[in-house]
Amino acid sequence: MSQPLRIVHIAAARPNFMKVAPLIREMRRRPEQFDAELVHTGQHYDDKMSQVFFDELEIPRPTVNLHAGSGSHAKQTAEVMLRLEPFVLEHRPDWVVVYGDVNSTAAAALVCSKLGIRLAHVEAGLRSFDRTMPEEINRLVTDQLADLLLTPSPEANDNLRREGCDPAKIHFVGNIMIDTLVHLLPKADQRWPALREQTGERYVLATFHRVSNVDKPETLTGIMTALARIAERVPVVFPVHPRTQNALRGLGIAGTERVRMIDPLGYLDFVALQKHAAAVVTDSGGVQEETTYLGVPCLTARPNTERPVTITEGTNRLVASDAESIASAVEETLENFQSSNRRPALWDGSTAVRIADLMSVLGR
Ligand code: UD1
Ligand code: UDP
Repeated sequence: MSQPLRIVHIAAARPNFMKVAPLIREMRRRPEQFDAELVHTGQHYDDKMSQVFFDELEIPRPTVNLHAGSGSHAKQTAEVMLRLEPFVLEHRPDWVVVYGDVNSTAAAALVCSKLGIRLAHVEAGLRSFDRTMPEEINRLVTDQLADLLLTPSPEANDNLRREGCDPAKIHFVGNIMIDTLVHLLPKADQRWPALREQTGERYVLATFHRVSNVDKPETLTGIMTALARIAERVPVVFPVHPRTQNALRGLGIAGTERVRMIDPLGYLDFVALQKHAAAVVTDSGGVQEETTYLGVPCLTARPNTERPVTITEGTNRLVASDAESIASAVEETLENFQSSNRRPALWDGSTAVRIADLMSVLGR
């Protein structure tokens, strides 16, 4: 029998952990096919942005944490590259698997492609067509360099083909974040009774961390004005991302009794709060997807989304990032939202199995 494929998975930041967990678990269930290990680049490092997900999602300990940390885009990307290169030179995996669109994803893609190590990109082909977003640059670079493009939705295949990617590399496998959601929903449900004591039955859940919303004081102030207006009707629960915490602190803005600003939550609590929210207002990519799966109304404060199926086949709606647009869209949703059971194709909890099957056939 041939040797198992040597796979290195790269995880870096909060949204990567929900994506890496199911695939590493599936590969470790097949030791005759895969020898899978994990590298944490250390892009996110607070316990509430990293360790909590290792615990709750039962992600194996990384072989190494590169502790690349925070910095400008160039610094963060360069630190990941400098620290990852010796690791892959020493370990010489058959494949490196990268996830999503964070700086560490693009950094790992550059390192591996120049060393001739085959690269698989999970969540390939998403495009906002907005190059002012740092994530869009990371998506474009990573997809051009990857040898295997694993897409969550059919329009991602179209985007890649339009950019000239070899169709043989492109595989529609479904949404791996939904694997984690399906797997952990029963555990998240157990959190609800205790959470309900704090939130009550009816509340709006908010998350914001996109540079375009958070780094401009007037935009962030407008968002906070919207949350205050929404809270006149329904209390708002707002777990605050560290980028946003820093910005709000700089502006001297604090929470109130009805706009409850709290630290970032673990996955189980956050999923339970999404499931029971009257509405979610966000700029997160993953939250647009999870609310679609859960059938919960989502207002996304952005001019565009790289996840259009959450609008066409889900519960998502784009709104401008000003106080009036956000507040009136949430108010309208609170009054009349019709849920549906529509879910995008292959958002079914089995994406990791499909990827592992495919990679075992592709081999080295
Ligand atoms: C990053 C990703 C973004 C993703 C988000 C998910 C890039 C370009 N951006 O944005 O696509 O949606 O993660 O959450 O890769 N900080 C802490 N503790 C931490 C991590 C960060 O305090 O554990 C603070 C630091 O001040 C840091 C800032 O947050 O400078 C931003 O962190 P960074 O990783 O650069 O970008 P995010 O905004 O988290
Ligand atoms: N999430 C979480 N706690 C929070 C906010 C978000 O566990 O306080 C989870 C959320 O359920 C989703 C993921 O984090 O699985 C999304 O990550 P994030 O919004 O940081 O990044 P994005 O998806 O926008 O890149």
